[in-house]
Amino acid sequence: MAISRLGFLSLLLLVLLRAFASLPTQAAARGGSDSSGIDNGKHGAFSRILLEDNPEITEEMTRGYMSNSELENAIQGFGNKCSNVSRIYSIGRSVNGSPLWVIEVSDKPGQKEAEPAFKFIGNVHGDEPVGREVLMQLAYWLCDNYLKDPLVCKATLIVENMHLHILPTMNPDGFALRRRGNANNIDLNRDFPDQFFPINDEISFRQPETRAIINWIKQEHFTASASLHGGALVANYPWDGSRDKRKQYYGCPDDKTFRYMASVYSQSHYNMSLSKEFKGGITNGALWYPIYGGMQDWNYIHGGCFELTLEISDLKWPKASELLVIWEQNKMSMLNLVASLVKTGVHGRIFASDSGRPIPGSLMVKGIDSKISASRTLGDYHRMLTPGETYEVVASMEGFRPRSTRIVLEQEAMNLDFILDPDGQKKPLHNDCGCHCDDDVGGKPFLIRESHLWLYLLVLFVLLALYLLSKRRRTASKLAAHRIPLKRPVAV
Ligand SMILES: *[C@@H]1O[C@H](CO)[C@@H](O)[C@H](O)[C@H]1NC(C)=O
Ligand SMILES: *[C@@H]1O[C@H](CO)[C@@H](O)[C@H](O)[C@H]1NC(C)=O
Repeated sequence: MAISRLGFLSLLLLVLLRAFASLPTQAAARGGSDSSGIDNGKHGAFSRILLEDNPEITEEMTRGYMSNSELENAIQGFGNKCSNVSRIYSIGRSVNGSPLWVIEVSDKPGQKEAEPAFKFIGNVHGDEPVGREVLMQLAYWLCDNYLKDPLVCKATLIVENMHLHILPTMNPDGFALRRRGNANNIDLNRDFPDQFFPINDEISFRQPETRAIINWIKQEHFTASASLHGGALVANYPWDGSRDKRKQYYGCPDDKTFRYMASVYSQSHYNMSLSKEFKGGITNGALWYPIYGGMQDWNYIHGGCFELTLEISDLKWPKASELLVIWEQNKMSMLNLVASLVKTGVHGRIFASDSGRPIPGSLMVKGIDSKISASRTLGDYHRMLTPGETYEVVASMEGFRPRSTRIVLEQEAMNLDFILDPDGQKKPLHNDCGCHCDDDVGGKPFLIRESHLWLYLLVLFVLLALYLLSKRRRTASKLAAHRIPLKRPVAV
């Protein structure tokens, strides 16, 4: 496993860049004192500083917090207690071999449904343990209140209309060691591939915890997520880094939607929105201080998953007696953020008009340079968008003609299905040019050379047209059967 020459050169370049970059003055939870954080702890010096930064994590302070084995028991216990609305599964193991347990809360756990999915990740940094405690509270609250429901429908809404995945600890080893990094002392929130700098691009060199998250995101069809941190009180949204490494507002294409989502969290919080440091209790990551290799930006770029980084307590390691208060202060925020996936945005499925089957197309919004994919199996998509605006949404899929429509998105969610017609242009039947062949250019010379095939295709086309005409009625009724009953079903 040798580092490629290019990789080595870029590493060198980065080290140089880093040396010249100005270091932000702010030390905080998301970043600690190492702002660029790219080769965090790998050489030992920085990690020592971090350990010395928190000499106050005493035996006394850990009292009242669940140990790793207690947490594991709590997760399994939850699975037994709430077995009909949950599933326990592991996404991998930490460096020292602890399973990374996930609780999925849903009325049909483990099943594919045309519903949005949200994930919560706690304890990314070993010395920020509040998230893992609060997430267990959240799981129990949902289980206890589903069907009882003092907050009218919120628990039921979440259990019945979406899938919530909770990973209480991403870094059990760091927690056991009472430090920020994992067992290799790598800061996991700097270990993801970065959009601006190629330093982390080699996936096989990533930490096991990081790889587990990457595979998880590729496997599940997450709509949005949040990771929980401590050491500040703010909802942080992408981008986390800026191209030139300067501390500045660096918004992503969905900046407006992210600000909306971060505000849902801060406004529902006990006092996050009253922050003096952050207007409204929210901040753009790069404006606070840029970091590279973070999990948040990776989620948005590679998973189409809108992730926030939530700093939920001023102290990284408060007394255990504060935990219930912190949970109460964050409860409505967590519930409202998760529920916003069902209560707002545009949702629907993409179908092929010829077969009537769902297809894994993608959804674009004119003027926003990002793409949301529909799921492979059910063709469902879930697009978070700021409410109260007009949008032009376009559904597309290779081999099909795209369809666009203008919508007025009100405060509540909208359901919008798309039925795409196959692209009339047929691909060459026997494609000999290997894996990478441009369809538009590749088709023509092929047909000119093989004139018999041209005739053959013409006959095929006529037959297909006749077939489609005869099939139209049947398809229409099939589509109706596929559709999920929702508030305002519209098909385009
Ligand atoms: C779960 O169990 C409770 C109580 O036994 C029951 O009322 C509820 O309908 C069940 N929910 C599901 C989704 O099966
Ligand atoms: C929020 O309330 C806590 C006490 O629960 C307090 O320590 C903190 O300073 C408050 N933060 C803001 C921004 O008002």
